Amino acid sequence: MEVKDVTSKNAGTGGVLQRIAGPVVTAVGLDAHMYDVVKVGNEELMGEVIKIQGDHIIIQVYEDTSGIRPGEPVSNTGLSLAVELGPGLLKSIYDGIQRPLSVLVDKMGNFIERGVSAPGLDREIKWDFKPTVKAGDEVGPGSIIGEVQETNILHRVMVPPNIRGGVVKSIKEGSFTVDEVVCTLEDGTELTMMQRWPVRTPRPVAEKLNPDIPLITGQRILDGLFPIAKGGTAAIPGPFGSGKTVTQQQLAKWSDAEIVVYIGCGERGNEMTEVLIEFPHLQDPKTGKPLMERTTLIANTSNMPVAAREASVYTGITIAEYFRDMGYDVSLMADSTSRWAEAMREISSRLEEMPGEEGYPAYLAARLSEFYERAGRVRNINGTYGSVSVIGAVSPPGGDFSEPVTQNTLRIVKVFWALDAKLSQRRHFPAINWLNSYSLYLDSLTGWYDENVSPEWNKIRAWAMEVLQEEAELQEVVQLVGSDALPEEQQVTIEVARMIREIFLQQNAYDDVDTFCDMTKQYDMMKAIRKYSDLAYAAQAAGVLPQQVMAIRAKNELPQIKFIKDYKPVLAEILGRMDEEFNALRAA
Ligand SMILES: Nc1ncnc2c1ncn2[C@@H]1O[C@H](COP(=O)(O)OP(=O)(O)OP(=O)(O)O)[C@@H](O)[C@H]1O
Ligand SMILES: [Mg+2]
Repeated sequence: MEVKDVTSKNAGTGGVLQRIAGPVVTAVGLDAHMYDVVKVGNEELMGEVIKIQGDHIIIQVYEDTSGIRPGEPVSNTGLSLAVELGPGLLKSIYDGIQRPLSVLVDKMGNFIERGVSAPGLDREIKWDFKPTVKAGDEVGPGSIIGEVQETNILHRVMVPPNIRGGVVKSIKEGSFTVDEVVCTLEDGTELTMMQRWPVRTPRPVAEKLNPDIPLITGQRILDGLFPIAKGGTAAIPGPFGSGKTVTQQQLAKWSDAEIVVYIGCGERGNEMTEVLIEFPHLQDPKTGKPLMERTTLIANTSNMPVAAREASVYTGITIAEYFRDMGYDVSLMADSTSRWAEAMREISSRLEEMPGEEGYPAYLAARLSEFYERAGRVRNINGTYGSVSVIGAVSPPGGDFSEPVTQNTLRIVKVFWALDAKLSQRRHFPAINWLNSYSLYLDSLTGWYDENVSPEWNKIRAWAMEVLQEEAELQEVVQLVGSDALPEEQQVTIEVARMIREIFLQQNAYDDVDTFCDMTKQYDMMKAIRKYSDLAYAAQAAGVLPQQVMAIRAKNELPQIKFIKDYKPVLAEILGRMDEEFNALRAA
């Protein structure tokens, strides 16, 4: 991680360490501002000022502080914690402070030593830069000045947002490293392909737009019942083993965003290793190439210092905003934000702050909302349009959603996908509970569905939700008296609800076809279930017995549709037979 290119008057002023409490240390005699990056101890460990109490400067250290002693020096760089942005972000795997893991491993083997600095962007790689402006052109903050074909993704090189701009004096074409000057402005400003940005500051936008386009995920329960908008926020809370990671990875693979930023905060040592092993092997279904070609992965293992884990979400969202600024749709997954909250809790307790609920700091809610507020679909300052959608997993201890991280997240995000241990035990996947989950984007997305799926879509979606809710109420009765005791009409409701659950909601992430379901197929599947429902009620009204309505064979063939790529002719044929069967019943 590099620091911002602004040298403050504090640079270089030295102090000494007075107290060390795990990741939090106190220095005296240091001239510093909040969030200045400092170098701690003889080994010059990287830290950040997080509190100032008179002449006591309190610092969180991004590396292991064991062995450091009072009296060792502390110096202020006068810069704030920042990331390097430019070609080379894609395919990268970073720790929480943007040190490339591959470089760390090369330098230190599997043990992350201290005081190792490694730039976020490789300084050796040469990238082919093609200018998109010429001498004499006027450029402003955020203006796109050129392009680099990074992977399949075209990386747009931009004037940093905090540079005033001016008239281009000269611009080069050819092969350059990220720190070579490619463009000079009339006033002498030199631009490289790389820029730095302080992670705790949102990158500026021209305008936030309404959340009226869905982020299509290909996951039926998400798109169909609880959709997230592009630039929206969603949380996936779930107990241990209920499907948080599988859902996040499905979203990374399938959502219609061009860029993926994946922040993995492992709990157990091996959990993160899993992501590190798995993620690089994920295939991008759109290209057949590794998904990493359009991904930046930020990985925190449990043996990394807590402060770095705390920083990782800021590093991740800043990278996401940078790609948004180029005009891309970005989806950011954080798995799991509970680990981030726990890092905050640990640092807060070291600071001896007054603890809030369950020991989390009083500012937990504020930090969570600052993070999610950086999501959005926007008009960028350079006139392009882009979005950052943020999807955070939450791991409540014991699966209890009343705990502070889940509750505070719920107040902020607009979509809630509640994983349910009972469903995963029954192997109903995705184990998202359709009764607790919700999306607050439904109203703003209505127009999009009308136009892009069908004017009937919103109605059929509402119908399916109603059937599921009705089923939940009827289930209570069924448990008391059995389903045969229900009135005939309600027996049909129970059957239709079962079809919605088993045909529409259940979706196998590991089946080549079922893993992704586009909106047309989702609509066709829902219509097929609706057709059975309409025919069943009509037949009943005409005096056909419930057992006969249940015995329609064609409906039992509907589930196979999920696994057939070219499903339309098969579905038409099944529906044709369904008509025939019902006709025969009524004729009898
Ligand atoms: N959509 C799905 N399709 C098929 N199987 C699934 C699906 N979702 C989850 N599973 C099954 O559930 C298992 C656990 O899922 P996952 O690892 O995502 O849980 P988790 O909530 O991330 O757990 P942890 O708390 O350990 O992080 C998976 O290994 C898989 O077998
Ligand atoms: Mg997991």
